[in-house]
Amino acid sequence: MQIHVLTVLEWDARQRDLAGFMAQISNNDVVIVRNYLGDADVDAFKNFCLAFRASEATSWHPCLEGCPDYHRIHNNYPGAYVPAIQHSFFFHPWNRSFVAVSKFGAFDRLFDLKMNLSGENLGDVLANTPSQGVIARIVSHRYPRGGGGQAEHIDPVSPFAKIQTLIQASSPGIDYNEGGLYLIHPTTGRVAIDGYTRKGDLILMSPGVRHGVAPIDPDQTLDWTGTDGRWIIMPIIIHSDHVSDAGIRPRAMDRL
Ligand SMILES: [Fe+2]
Repeated sequence: MQIHVLTVLEWDARQRDLAGFMAQISNNDVVIVRNYLGDADVDAFKNFCLAFRASEATSWHPCLEGCPDYHRIHNNYPGAYVPAIQHSFFFHPWNRSFVAVSKFGAFDRLFDLKMNLSGENLGDVLANTPSQGVIARIVSHRYPRGGGGQAEHIDPVSPFAKIQTLIQASSPGIDYNEGGLYLIHPTTGRVAIDGYTRKGDLILMSPGVRHGVAPIDPDQTLDWTGTDGRWIIMPIIIHSDHVSDAGIRPRAMDRL
């Protein structure tokens, strides 16, 4: 398990040797691409989420045909696959907000990479709707100061989720001081990742390595209305809820 920090140019070159890159991911290495997104784009993305949060009530919707964009608060609710304290935003290609947030990042390149790695030909996954079984989604989480986090878990490895692509959307040491993403090394234990990252960095890792988000500034008061804390942006490809299979859900290793 090593941590490789690349420039965007180095990352472009790395993608010409996907077998070598995937060998690193299989070894549970972490690849960090410095400044994958510029600060202005990250801030614009977050401001979009904050405006969405202010204008729409929290809600939840199964990923079925016509699923709207929505945001919800997870506060260790009973029955969660992975207990978490986070405010989550979900954007889908068939909705207007997805088009708006897509402007702020090179997400299409990450969707293309995931589809390339899948070895499956699903056509243009961005054109899919839930009844087709596999869809693209842009997710953002805000882990608030005052204990935001996520229990340790592994994510399902599916053909189109062979890598995790997380964009660090906050500044460690400014937006929060304590906590954040960690991985479990099989022999040496917990490896904290956020200290290697800056706002706009892309983090690439295996979904199969145990990981979690350690509580963010747990000594502070939990504030769901703030703008600071730890934010991430994740372009993902998932099975819609037209597909039911417990094997494709994340698996929690312990509780928060
Ligand atoms: Fe995860």
